[in-house]
Amino acid sequence: MSAPIIVAVDGPAGSGKSSVSKAAARKLDFAYLDTGAAYRAVAWHVLNTGTNPEDEQAVIDSLEEFGYEIGTDPDNYFVKVNETDITDAIREVRITDVVSKVAKIPVVRQYLGDLFRHIMASTSKSGIIAEGRDITTVVAPDAPARILLTASEEARMARRSAELPQQSQDQTASALRARDAADSRVSDFMTAADGVVTVDSTDFTYEQTIDAVVEVIRSRTS
Ligand code: DC
Repeated sequence: MSAPIIVAVDGPAGSGKSSVSKAAARKLDFAYLDTGAAYRAVAWHVLNTGTNPEDEQAVIDSLEEFGYEIGTDPDNYFVKVNETDITDAIREVRITDVVSKVAKIPVVRQYLGDLFRHIMASTSKSGIIAEGRDITTVVAPDAPARILLTASEEARMARRSAELPQQSQDQTASALRARDAADSRVSDFMTAADGVVTVDSTDFTYEQTIDAVVEVIRSRTS
């Protein structure tokens, strides 16, 4: 069997990269890899083992017992660490609050980058869409299709508010700005690197955004 087609999708919080990548994978019968889930899983593991997330060496040491599994079927998504299902737990605010701390540790990034490359290469589907910060630049810089999914800050905040009706708009806006600021220290996710196609979804509906992403993938890989 030939090597799978790798598609890399990057973008800021609230750009819709997870749901759009998943839907595009479904349309193309590709696998889907949520790389942010692995950073969240490390954060969960660190908290679960009572490791201090500020102690870089302790976080690195905790990777020795980090048995990670993720579902790459867009219709059967799950995340497990040492066989505990943490699919929902990794979305909790306590995880979101510490994930940038573990994501900025270079050894953690190296470790997870290797893991992502391994998962991508071993998919049984004809292709895989991997989404997350630095996928287009560091993890899969040679992927035939690399996409930066953007949207104006206003549009991203409006989408997040619709997803989190229990939060006030001010809370949502400040959480998103804090995430952007913390994540931008790790990678520049607002500027497309050379060869990366920007899809700006500010004025697109969800369906139009999926179609635009599928179109870029088709044009780059056919
Ligand atoms: O996309 P997300 O919110 O699930 O990502 C969780 C965190 O992990 C976020 O702080 C960005 C970081 N991340 C990263 O640094 N590199 C990736 N490839 C994916 C996510």
